[in-house]
Formats: sequence, C-alpha cells, structure tokens
Amino acid sequence: MVKNIQAIRGMKDYLPSDIIIWQFIEEKLRQVLSSYGYNEIRLPIVEYTSLFNKAIGNITDIVEKEMYTFKDNNGESITLRPEGTAGCVRAGIEHGFLYNQQQRLWYIGPMFRYERPQKGRYRQFYQIGVESFGWQGPDIDAELIILSYRCWKVLGITEYVKLEVNSIGSLEVRNSYRRSLINFLEHHKDVLDDDCIRRMYTNPLRILDSKNPTIQKLLNYALPLSNFLDKKSHAHFDNLCTLLKNNGIKYKVNERLVRGLDYYNDTVFEWVTNNLGSQGTICGGGRYDGLVKQMGGHPTPAIGFAIGLDRLVLLLKTINKTFQPKNIIDGYIIASGKSVQCAAIQLAEKLRDSDPTVKIITNFGSNLKKQFARANKCGARIALILGEHEVQTDQVIIKDMRTGNQQILAQSEITKILQILLQ
Ligand code: HAM
Repeated sequence: MVKNIQAIRGMKDYLPSDIIIWQFIEEKLRQVLSSYGYNEIRLPIVEYTSLFNKAIGNITDIVEKEMYTFKDNNGESITLRPEGTAGCVRAGIEHGFLYNQQQRLWYIGPMFRYERPQKGRYRQFYQIGVESFGWQGPDIDAELIILSYRCWKVLGITEYVKLEVNSIGSLEVRNSYRRSLINFLEHHKDVLDDDCIRRMYTNPLRILDSKNPTIQKLLNYALPLSNFLDKKSHAHFDNLCTLLKNNGIKYKVNERLVRGLDYYNDTVFEWVTNNLGSQGTICGGGRYDGLVKQMGGHPTPAIGFAIGLDRLVLLLKTINKTFQPKNIIDGYIIASGKSVQCAAIQLAEKLRDSDPTVKIITNFGSNLKKQFARANKCGARIALILGEHEVQTDQVIIKDMRTGNQQILAQSEITKILQILLQ
C-alpha cells in the first residue's frame, strides 16, 4: 500500500474552519496597530544564517539548537527565520530607513524553530511582531505595552493575561552580574541539574528562568540583577513603571525575567496566561538599543515585541469553547434546470458589482434537494432560486432559510435583493 505523505512534525495545516478565528484576531490586531500609527513591513522568510547568529547570539537556545539551516545551491548557509527582529533591523540598515528617523513598524508571518513540539509549541508558528526605532525614553516602552494591552482588550481576554516586566540593564551590567551569578552557582554545584551545569558558563542568566523548583529556591539566595543596575537603567525602569501605573496597566516585576535572546537591554516584558499549560507566554519583547549598531548601522534606540498567534488562538478557544466568529454566507444561488447556470452566474456577478461586501455562493451541479442541503450546511440565510421559468421571466425566488418564507422578485431589482441579503 502507498504510504500517504504527512505534514512535517511540528508544522500544522490551518484549515478553513480555524482560519475564521485567525482572520478575526488578525483583523482586530491590524486595527489596533494602525490606530497607533504603526506601518506594516514584509520581510523575507529566509535570511543568511550569519544574520541570526550575530543578532540573536551564538550561545542562545535558538542559535545553538533550534534553527532550520541549509546550504542553498550556491553553497551559502541560509536559515528559515526563527524570529522577525533580526530581519527587520537588517532591512532598516539596508534601506536606510533607520538613520536619523523614527519608525513604528509591524509584521506578521511564520517563524521556524526546531523545538520539541507540544501544545502551544510548534516548529512552524506565527507571530505578529511590532518594532519601534528612534526613541530613547521610557514613553515608547509604555506605549508599546499599552498597545499590547489594547490587543487583549479588543479580543476580550484581559482577565486571562498578566504582565511581567523587568530591567536587565546594560551589557556591562549584565557582564558583572554574570560573574557574580557564576560565582554563586559554583558554590552550589551539587544542587544544579544538567541543564544548569551546561548553561553555567555559557549563558548563566538563562538559569534564572529555570522551571526546576529546587533551582528556583536556590536562586532566592543569589543577589538579584537589580542590585547591579546603574542609575540610568533604574531611572528608565522607574519612569516606565510610573507610566504604566498612571495608565491603569497592572504589572508584576519579575526579577528573574531575562528573555532568551541576547539583544535585549533595560526593559523586558512578557504577557503570560495560566490557561495554556507550560507554554503560557503569549507575547514577549523588550528594548534592544545596541542591535542596530551591532549589525552595522548607526546607533539607534529600539524596542519591540512579538505575539505568538498560535497561542493566542488556543487561548481564545480555551476560554470560550463556543467562540466562533461569524463567516455567514448572505446568499446561496440554487439553479435548477437546463441552461440556467449562465443566468445564475450573471445574477451573482450583478450582486457583487453592486455591493462588493455581499457573500454569495453559486451552486454548480447536483439536484434541488442536495442544493438546499448545501445552502444549509454553509450557513446561508437566504436561498436565491432560479429555474427555467424564472430565467425566462427574469425573476428570482427568494427564500429565507430560517423562516421558510418565500417571495418572488424581478432579477433587475438588485437593490431590493441586496437589502434582503444584507438585512
Ligand atoms: P520570543 O519570546 O522568542 O521573542 O517569541 C515571541 C512569542 O512567540 C512567544 O512569546 C510565543 O508566544 C511565540 N513563540 C515562540 N516560540 C514558539 C513556538 N515554538 N511555537 C509557538 N509559539 C512560539 C521574539 O521572537 C522576539 N523577536 C520578540 C521581539 C520583537 N523582541 C523585540 N522585538
């Protein structure tokens, strides 16, 4: 027997029944982004591997073990993007739209990470990412966080998500904290698990968000990163917290929040939910003031975040099991008899000419009973019935599928037909 080819592990199909909820979310988020003056940017899905190595950091989980990297026909090493910030910065430098300018940008699309698949964690997943370039002060940090809050507000999920914020200071601050943390961990090697031992000298800060309860307890005795922050970072963070408070945004300072990408400094934040099990972070971001310069551009302050759309869809479905945005068909044209198909297509086209928002399905083939069954199945409210007699007399029977009421109208009465379809 022939074995059917299946989708690659961790890469899902998004079927039409699911797409309705995706489109609902995307539309709401696009509206929010545009209401804050953010512009869409479309970036390649594949970039040179060196871009991600340099931007994300060689000793992060993403670069060490999660990238889909290939050689192209020319022998160049290329990578399916694991995230969008690196590509956005690359594009900004390449097209010169960051230098001496301020930009509010957003993008949407698939990202790829070779992680162990589970609920809420996939190898191909979707993000909406937001990046602002050119603002130094904490006001843009606050704007971005408030914007993300508005996303939850328009989706009706504010009570299910919580904001965690932290400041990780400058690179120098993190280097001195790194030394202090290694020193502390070296004294407690016997309690560390394999993962912590592996990270201890390469990326010790990541140990702070270890899920192991013993490690979490141990870390209560380590000096917190905030002890190492300089005056500037403290002031930036305090200002941000005041702005959030004054705008009614509830947050928790999580001193262990460090994020998994190397480019961050000062503000970092995540929105988390308890409703999705272990993959509860639906959005994460922070400042990356050094990245543009590090990638070869002029020094440009920047901050951004990305929402994991797969997790957002799961969350909406989890908290509202019956949630199903409407995608109801307004009219289903049922054509019965010889040579009526052409008239059916013409009627549908006239209706769409008059109102491009009307949703009409024209039936092709099958008997009358089947056609009514299909009209019902696709949720059409109105059936427009055309037989040979109706075509000859330029009429159409209009049937309300819920009440069964019928009326006959002239096909030329397009406005009237539309009124019934769209009421
Ligand atoms: P990130 O935290 O790696 O940040 O990813 C952002 C969000 O993408 C996560 O909070 C999660 O919701 C979702 N996500 C990540 N990995 C997966 C996965 N394997 N399956 C499903 N969803 C996933 C970034 O990517 C940064 N570029 C965000 C950013 C933008 N920072 C500044 N600007």
